Amino acid sequence: MSKIDVVLGLNYGDEGKGKVSTFLSQNADIALRCTGGNNAGHTVEFNGSKIIFHLIPSGILNDKTEGVIGNGVVIDPRVLFEEISFLKDQGVDLSKLHISTRAHLIFPYHIAEDKLEEFLKGDDKVGTTARGIGPCYMDKANRIGLRVIDMYNPNFEKKLRRNIANKNKVFKLFGFDTLDEDAIVKDYLNYRDMLKPYVTDTVLYLHNALDENKNIICEGAQATGLDMDLGDYPMVTSSNPTIGGIQTGSGLSHKDLTNVYGVCKAYASRVGEGPFITEQNNEIGDTIRELGHEYGATTKRPRRCGWMDLVALKYAVRVNGITGLVVNHLDTIGKLGKSKLCVGYKLDDKVYTEYSDDVIGRESEVEPIYEEFTTNFNIEKETNYDNLPDAAKEYIKAIENHLGVPVKFIGTGPSNEDMIIR
Ligand code: IMP
Repeated sequence: MSKIDVVLGLNYGDEGKGKVSTFLSQNADIALRCTGGNNAGHTVEFNGSKIIFHLIPSGILNDKTEGVIGNGVVIDPRVLFEEISFLKDQGVDLSKLHISTRAHLIFPYHIAEDKLEEFLKGDDKVGTTARGIGPCYMDKANRIGLRVIDMYNPNFEKKLRRNIANKNKVFKLFGFDTLDEDAIVKDYLNYRDMLKPYVTDTVLYLHNALDENKNIICEGAQATGLDMDLGDYPMVTSSNPTIGGIQTGSGLSHKDLTNVYGVCKAYASRVGEGPFITEQNNEIGDTIRELGHEYGATTKRPRRCGWMDLVALKYAVRVNGITGLVVNHLDTIGKLGKSKLCVGYKLDDKVYTEYSDDVIGRESEVEPIYEEFTTNFNIEKETNYDNLPDAAKEYIKAIENHLGVPVKFIGTGPSNEDMIIR
């Protein structure tokens, strides 16, 4: 029987999905990305070098693991080929990379539109990564997007020129720089040839792999709080980083999924705008940021930091059907002395222990209800659960009790090996 492991972020991204994905991919025949684009980023240490992955599933680093970029991903070819070239230099065999015919392409006008959209939103800006992700998905929904397969259609150049011309009219209207139509067309005709060796009917490829009893690891991007349907709309990304996105972004069926791992940190962080009920916009948040090195892998922005929110996490566990938890940075909270877990929300004298839409738009009025824990332990690089001090075990048990799901992996340091497996 084949096995599919899915790794999903449960908060606002940057939970450390890369570490557990890298571990699980060691036994995987295929590593798969299904949603998002180069707004994602995770750092993996390989042969003494640090590699930041934005698009290619990191599991491709294993000699026997094939990499698949599924149909739900949006691809900026410039970034893709930078990544390919870097990996080739590291000696990675890129003939193992398969890119979906149906994945949508990001064009320079999407990046310009991302900036324009943010500018027009003014105070309501989302704080996007400015990589053109949202506008690319907008064009997909608007049915003017261009997919990988469309590049090989005789109409491609005509459609691309029409898109650029129309977008330029809008840029002009708002006083933004227009784009050089001929230069973009030239670049993308070049990318068309460069992409050719990787282009695959990935739905068929994945189903054939299942028939051959192969193991697949799905490396999720972003997280539940950023899901455009189930997250903090409108402060979200433009795709579905929840479990449904894994299926629509790959063509794999729910029946085929085995384990769905949900990744969180022993505290919480967020980049960009949007509600963050347990945020510590104070010295505690600053300390967590420094101890946990909370600066964006993609944009280098300092991350907003706060306490772990079990109300939001319970919601994320439910909507994704999480079967096991990954709690990263347990070592980091061990340096804080005391830490808090948010176990409820108080709003209008009512206590909520389940996430409720009553709080939508009123997040800043919510008073988090905390349980306090002593977290004064040094567990850096620990790999054995039995060696953890009682205080660390109590923290993990409290998480399990509230969420009703076992904690299967615990991060105890920055390196991939710094992990407890239960
Ligand atoms: P976009 O995905 O670039 O459109 O940005 C939308 C929101 O999602 C912004 O708040 C970003 O900071 C956030 N975001 C997108 N990708 C990631 C990620 O990989 N980690 C954390 N936040 C992300």
